[in-house]
Amino acid sequence: MNQTEERKREHVQIALKENVSAHHNFWDDVHLIHNALPEINENEVNLSIQLFGKKLKLPLIISGMTGGYSESRKINEHLAAAAATFQVGMGVGSQRAALENQKLAETYSIIKDYDIPLKIANIGASQMVLWDKKNILENAGKIVEMIDADVLAVCLNFLQESIQPEGEANAKSCLATIDMLSREFGRPIIVKESGAGISRKVANQLKKTKISGIDVGGAGGTSFSAVEYYRAKIKGDAYNIRAGKTFWDWGIPTPTCILEVGKATNWELPIIATGGIRNGLDVAKALVLGANAAGMAHSLLKPALKDKKTTELELDMIARELRITMFLVGVDSVEKLSTVEVKYGLTE
Ligand SMILES: Cc1cc2nc3c(=O)[nH]c(=O)nc-3n(C[C@H](O)[C@H](O)[C@H](O)COP(=O)(O)O)c2cc1C
Repeated sequence: MNQTEERKREHVQIALKENVSAHHNFWDDVHLIHNALPEINENEVNLSIQLFGKKLKLPLIISGMTGGYSESRKINEHLAAAAATFQVGMGVGSQRAALENQKLAETYSIIKDYDIPLKIANIGASQMVLWDKKNILENAGKIVEMIDADVLAVCLNFLQESIQPEGEANAKSCLATIDMLSREFGRPIIVKESGAGISRKVANQLKKTKISGIDVGGAGGTSFSAVEYYRAKIKGDAYNIRAGKTFWDWGIPTPTCILEVGKATNWELPIIATGGIRNGLDVAKALVLGANAAGMAHSLLKPALKDKKTTELELDMIARELRITMFLVGVDSVEKLSTVEVKYGLTE
């Protein structure tokens, strides 16, 4: 196992074993107002949406987490099976490992065996900026083909890159690279943060490109600084333990990101709300604030390590919780969620 494979394995192991969440989950600050007279029947609630031209039966994306080392194939397979059963979207983790070692491609491409309505390929922006234009377009083509993706996510993860010892904190010409890809690649590109969030200023920069959507990947859920803290602890590396601890809660809360990105883009670009979503109630809260779909990573990792059935059971519970929430706020379609009364912030 090379260094990249080992690191990916460690990330998953640590995320499963330790508490790598931010200290505060900001979805707890979002309160939907109960409707005592919903005037609809719960069994008429329709959970389906259209996203990037695809029909999803739930407004949910399984966020990209893994691939690139042997055991990750099983995790991606269980997630893919559940995504197909529930007809939700699914991303894979950064596919760089498979570009470097073709043998690892099947840890990602396993998801092609399942009828998933929306598949999202993934590559880190910090790697792409090291390639020339020809390589960027060629490699983007390879990773999209690897999983037969509908959309390519360019991942921004500069918190992780600056904390992890092997990190590549190369952010120069990132925006120009995203802009070029969005105009020349010929497939939809989304920009995805991975736990530190997208601000209004960054959304204003991104809206000048031709990207098709933004996964705000905000703070409040998995903290990569926390993951790196535990990696450093295992290695007895005091230098990185310190940084991991200091930046544990760094980032913009996911609910704030939705509001800021929505305002910056006039609510014209699809927004995926990832970061701290734990259940169907959190999914509903994200949609009430204006997101088009919610993304979930960590909450699905443990079930996915186990088996397909456990992963499906988790998605079933999320669907049920979303349905109950929609009933209790009196809306029978996902589009109507944006009309629901909400309080965000400290309650008076
Ligand atoms: C073990 C693990 C590995 C991840 N790897 C990637 C990755 O390779 N690329 C990426 O864009 N995001 C990656 N993420 C970030 C998730 O997609 C997501 O943005 C983040 O975990 C926040 O969602 P959560 O709070 O539901 O976990 C990873 C998350 C976890 C837990």
